[in-house]
Amino acid sequence: MNLENSIGIFDSGFGGLTVFSSITKILPDYNYIYLGDNARSPYGDHSFETVYQYTLECVEWLFSQGCPLVILACNTASAKALRNIQQLDLSKKYPHHRVLGVIRPTAEVIGTFTETNTVGVLGTRGTVKSGSYIIEINKFFPKVQVYQQSCPMWVPLIENGEHDQEGADYFVQKYVGELMAQAAEIDTILLACTHYPLMVPKIKAYISSEIKLISQGDIVANSLADYLVRHPEIANNLGRQGEQLFYTTGDTETFDQHASVFLGKEIQSRKLKR
Ligand code: DGL
Repeated sequence: MNLENSIGIFDSGFGGLTVFSSITKILPDYNYIYLGDNARSPYGDHSFETVYQYTLECVEWLFSQGCPLVILACNTASAKALRNIQQLDLSKKYPHHRVLGVIRPTAEVIGTFTETNTVGVLGTRGTVKSGSYIIEINKFFPKVQVYQQSCPMWVPLIENGEHDQEGADYFVQKYVGELMAQAAEIDTILLACTHYPLMVPKIKAYISSEIKLISQGDIVANSLADYLVRHPEIANNLGRQGEQLFYTTGDTETFDQHASVFLGKEIQSRKLKR
């Protein structure tokens, strides 16, 4: 089965499934192809060039499968590859295709959650080093102070199914502690990595119950719904049979096991061979 005119959803691994889950809840009728580049995950510590090259390859594959619209459900790819893809590749090679990221829609609303105008951002090293959240949040909420902390061990823990085990506590306490030590006024923490919602139960144990913990899934889903209303030329060309396909560059059995944790349902993924 090859779905025509699907919405492509891409992540370095499983994390984008948190976004996929929110999107398909509010927009269940569209066709979707999810691609996780698990064989080359995590992206967090790769160079700008490598993340751009890997992301472009995956986006082009989704285009080849009939996806006119692709969501980069990955902050690292959104921070390091989206701009190049939009400015260099789409305009030259794919003028009718669209690629959207997760940083801008999140930056557009994050300032509405904080009462102290102080937001903490937890992300991969790549996302944090790019400074993308500081730049984007400042555009929409210039009064909001942004403090960042990278959590390089979290994606490997999640990709290996260790995130809910005792060993994970050390790294949750460490990174959350380092973030909160930067500013006691932080009243809103953004999980700026689509893998991190799986860490929520552990994170809650190390922060005050007053602090708002914001995951991106619903924010990105609402933003996509709004985008489709504003862009009928894209929306009207999308298939609406409610079909969903999952591909991974990694091991399908492992993907299926993990995906059921992220999605709360069983799926059968296909292997994308390179
Ligand atoms: N889910 C990706 C993100 O949002 C994880 C990046 C990685 O593979 O390190 O940043």
